[in-house]
Amino acid sequence: MDKAIRNDIYDQAVKWVLEAGTIIRDEMNAPLNIETKSNPNDLVTVLDKRIEAFFVQNIKEKYSNHFIIGEEGYGDSVTSLDGTIWIIDPIDGTMNFVHQRRNFAISVGVYQDGIGEIGIIYDVMSDVLYHAKKGEGAYKNNQQLPQLTSDVKLTNAIIGMNHFWLCENRLIDEKTMQNFVKKVRGTRTYGSAALEFAYTAEGIENGYLSIGLAPWDVAAGIVIVNEVGGVTSDIDGNEVNMLEKTSILTCNPILKDEIITFIRNGRK
Ligand code: IPD
Ligand code: CA
Ligand code: CA
Ligand code: CA
Repeated sequence: MDKAIRNDIYDQAVKWVLEAGTIIRDEMNAPLNIETKSNPNDLVTVLDKRIEAFFVQNIKEKYSNHFIIGEEGYGDSVTSLDGTIWIIDPIDGTMNFVHQRRNFAISVGVYQDGIGEIGIIYDVMSDVLYHAKKGEGAYKNNQQLPQLTSDVKLTNAIIGMNHFWLCENRLIDEKTMQNFVKKVRGTRTYGSAALEFAYTAEGIENGYLSIGLAPWDVAAGIVIVNEVGGVTSDIDGNEVNMLEKTSILTCNPILKDEIITFIRNGRK
């Protein structure tokens, strides 16, 4: 992507993300009209919808030839990665938003012909912005994040993952994952995939595993993690397809093969 074009999109995207954050903070104490989607714990609120609509309206006005993939369905029905595509999760961590009023993020990735060019993850309540442009480093607010450490092993790693790995699941024998949890130094569950990517980029987690994520959960995070030398794939090590839901491993590259081998041993 041409640098001047990318800088313009990036400046605009950051501005909209910060504006969206202000809307959320201003409106979050008004009635949220909480509804459920695929199951009783899959929540959506008026603000998830309003924020996605805010992005879609602004993007369509300013960049009429761009496409949008958004969780709440205000975007386009995208079937090809050709062109410029905004991949948006208006609130990542809706359960945290509803129950905890913190630890949720706005996640915006911009891809050009399938390549991640811009990643923005905004921790709305902490007012912390993680952001990256491909090839230009990743930042936490104004501070550039260092490359991931080469001094990490699985036995002293902190890995983000949730309890579903330890329950019977369709992907992997739960005993294998119980052994995995015993092997690593510690696990964390933050309840926002986007923030887990940001923390992996920051190096405060050494990786994050998820059974099933959608493009909007990972699009921005992949760009940010790439910029500090991190790697992202599905749990079998295959490249992530930005048009499909998939399992996810993002981590320090030193850990990738060992985690994938561990998982392969218990893979169904
Ligand atoms: C969810 C969060 C959560 C992850 C789920 C996602 P949402 O996104 O990222 O941490 O475990 O798989 O669906 O629905 O709150 O945007
Ligand atoms: Ca959701
Ligand atoms: Ca999400
Ligand atoms: Ca969401």
